[in-house]
This record gives sequence, structure tokens and C-alpha cells, in this order.
Amino acid sequence: MEADGPLPWHMVTAVPRIRADPLAFLASVQARWGDLVAFPMPRLPVVLVSSPTAARRVLVDNHRGWSKRTAQYGALSAVTGSGLLTSDGEVWRERRRTAQPAFHPGGLTAVAEQSVAAAARMRAAWPSGGGVVDVDAGALQATLEVVGRTLFGADVAEDGERLVRAVLEALEVVVGRVRTPLPGWLPTPARRRLRRAVAELDAASAAVVARRRAQGAAGEDLLGLLLRAVDSGDLAPEGLRDELVTMVIAGHETVASALTWTLHLLAQEQGAQRRVREELEAVLGGGDERGGRAPGWDDLRSLVRTRAAVEESLRLFPPAWVVSRRAVAEDVLDGVAVPAGTTAIISPWLLHRRPELFPDPEAYRPERFEEGLPRGARTAYTPFGAGPRLCIGRDFALVETTLALAELLRGASVHPAPGTRVRVEALVTMRPRDGLRLEVRPR
Ligand code: HEM
Repeated sequence: MEADGPLPWHMVTAVPRIRADPLAFLASVQARWGDLVAFPMPRLPVVLVSSPTAARRVLVDNHRGWSKRTAQYGALSAVTGSGLLTSDGEVWRERRRTAQPAFHPGGLTAVAEQSVAAAARMRAAWPSGGGVVDVDAGALQATLEVVGRTLFGADVAEDGERLVRAVLEALEVVVGRVRTPLPGWLPTPARRRLRRAVAELDAASAAVVARRRAQGAAGEDLLGLLLRAVDSGDLAPEGLRDELVTMVIAGHETVASALTWTLHLLAQEQGAQRRVREELEAVLGGGDERGGRAPGWDDLRSLVRTRAAVEESLRLFPPAWVVSRRAVAEDVLDGVAVPAGTTAIISPWLLHRRPELFPDPEAYRPERFEEGLPRGARTAYTPFGAGPRLCIGRDFALVETTLALAELLRGASVHPAPGTRVRVEALVTMRPRDGLRLEVRPR
């Protein structure tokens, strides 16, 4: 059996549609051609994989048969080098082993502390009498502080900020290529700009390292772990730079988007927000006017509704809306043979909207997660990917967003800002275009 799909001329007319709204394009392709769709790309076969069983085959059951040598990760690796997100095989395995201890529960208590502190600063910047604010800008600043302080340490904050600016500049150049998961090319002026941005990245990460080295001890955070790996010869110095850049890219905008979309959905669904608030009052105490005490690591187990509000938001707006793999050898997906060299595009955004797994899929219902997802839905729910390449920062992100949300909502409520239109932009991550304005009211 062969996968069905659009004809070459369909693709020519589709390019402007893909650029304008890639999510609508993916949905229309799936609606018309089904769960396994072949795109007629010259030389490079591409399939859109939308069934949970085929996605699982690629990401989990036959993960060795699928590499990250795709246009999407190729473009990113122009910035990250062979960091954890883009590398494959033995290099990846070694890197994952080196970085893993920084994401163990011991390290996550620091994430909890920094997330609450960053969210408290975010809320303190809101107008004290209430008003309209861009919560996306606040979330970006807050998550930047958390990544910087927990992975690289406050001591390198200044150089860390320079590193982040350089990462954003370099990403902007390659975004054109990552814009569609289809192969792209880079015109010469962009190539020159990318070269300059990468040179600045190299210099900024060298500055981060030099400052830490000047302090004598390597430290216990991710930077410290990586420095020790360099000293023992397990990691080349370029590898250190690649991982610093990777963590900024993977751990900053994604978490900010998760927090922003959750606030947006809770503003739309006041009933769901009320349920979260009841929980916050029960757990943190609601006596004083500031909404009880600040949340912390020990409260996570009790903040069931708050976490479910985040998980359901990650279902509707998964920041990593598409992941890709390339077939090392021929494989069979849902009974269809797929040749070696095929790029598989897997979209959590589509997987999360299957009505047989998530009834009334467009509705924001955190209760789905409070009650626990049924097995089939659990397989399809992939905001952090699946299998051995599962996001290393999953628990980091869930701790951060849950506690940040608790800290924000214990002191304020959020509401749609009159007259503003929220638009989704799906580039490297799924983000609100031009920020996200909400009305905030102090409690
Ligand atoms: C809500 C926030 C986040 C989302 C939605 C997210 C999503 C993802 C997804 C889908 C993948 C798998 C990609 C694939 O299979 O091709 C991934 C991998 C990764 N993420 Fe995250 N992520 C988030 C937060 C973070 C954080 C906070 C960090 C680090 C501080 C991080 C670091 C990474 C790294 C290093 C990888 C590559 C792991 C590997 O291949 O071994 N992510 N992320």
C-alpha cells in the first residue's frame, strides 16, 4: 500500500498557504488525505504522520530507524552545532548522559524557587490598580531569568543575557528556513548575517565560561557539570558551547509560550480559572488580601488543578507544534511502506485534536488531566515528544509553569483585553503573534 497525498501542482499553490498559516495547512491536508500523507517533494520524500500508532512507531518503537537529519533540525544546528536537540547516535547518547544530572529532582528545587521569584517580579510589574498588560513579554522575561539562574547561575547573568540576545539574532536568520518543515535555502546576505550572529554567539558563550572559570569552582549547575566534563576530557570545548546555546533555545521561549497560552485560556474560561483559584486558596490559604503565602516545591503534589490547567493548555497550544525525523532505512507505518530517506513530520498539534481521544477537542477542559487521560489519549499526548528523545526539560518546564501560574493567580485574576485579537504564529515554536494582551485585576 502507498500513502496518498497532494499532487505536485497542489504543492506549488500551497506554498503561500503554508507560509501564511502552517497549522491550517496541516489540518486541511490531514482532513483531505488522512493520517499518512505523502508530499510530492522532488528527491526528498516527505510524509505527514498523524496517527498515534505511526507516531509512536517513529518516536518510540523504532527510534533507531529514524534520525534527526531533517531540514528542521539541520536549520537549527546552524545555531546549536551538534547540541543535544539536534545530534544523533553516539554523540547524542554521550551528551544526554552528561547533561541528565542537572535535570534530576535535586536541581528542580532550585527551578521551583526561581520560578516563583520570577513570577512574583512579573506580577509586581503589573499596574497595582489593574489594567491591560502584555503577558507574553512578561513571561519571556521571567523564563529567561529562570533558565539563566538555574542552569548557568546568577553569577554569569550579564554574559548570559548577551548569549541569549545572540541566540535570538541567529535564530531569526534561520527561522525562514525552519518556517516550513520542507527543505529551504538561505540567500547570501542572510548567510553573512548568520555568520556574524554565530561569531557573536561563540564570543558570548566563551565569556560565560571565562567568568565562571575565574571564580575557581565549576559549580553544581548545568554549566558546572559541563565544565567538569570538559576538564575530564568527556566533552570537547565546542560541545560546551553547543549545549549552552541548545538550552537557551529549548528552554526559554517554549516555557514562556506555555505560560502565556495557559493565561490566555484561563482568561477565556473563567470557570476553569475559578477552579484553579479555589485550589490555590485551599493549598496556600486565602486569608490575606495577597491570596495566601507563596507556593513552593512541597505544594506541587497538591496543585493538581493548577498543573492540569497547564497540561490542557499544552494540548491545545503545544509550543513544539511539529517534530521531524528521517528514515535511516525503509520502515512500515500503519501498514504503509515508507522508503529510506523519507522525512516524517509529526505534529502534536494534530495528534492532540483527535476527537475519538479528546472529545470536543477544541474545548479547554483541564478536568481531562485531573481525572487522568485514557491510554490511547496518553499515547497521542506528546507536547514533550516521546521515546528516548523525550524533552530532557519536561519536569523542569512543568514545575516552572505550574508554580509560576500559582504565584501569578494567587495575587491577580486575568481577563480578555477588550478589542484585542489573539493570533497564533507557528514558527520555531507556537507563539502569539505581536504579544498577548490581557486585562489583569489585583485580588
Ligand atoms: C513547555 C516547555 C517545553 C516544551 C513544549 C518542550 C518540547 C520539547 C520536545 C517536543 C522535544 C522533543 C523534540 C523531538 O523529539 O524532536 C524536546 C526536546 C528537548 N528539550 Fe524541551 N520542551 C520544553 C522545555 C524545555 C526546557 C525547560 C529545557 C531545558 C532547560 C528543554 C530542553 C530540551 C532539550 C535539550 C531537548 C533535546 C533532548 C534530546 O534529544 O535528548 N526543553 N523539547
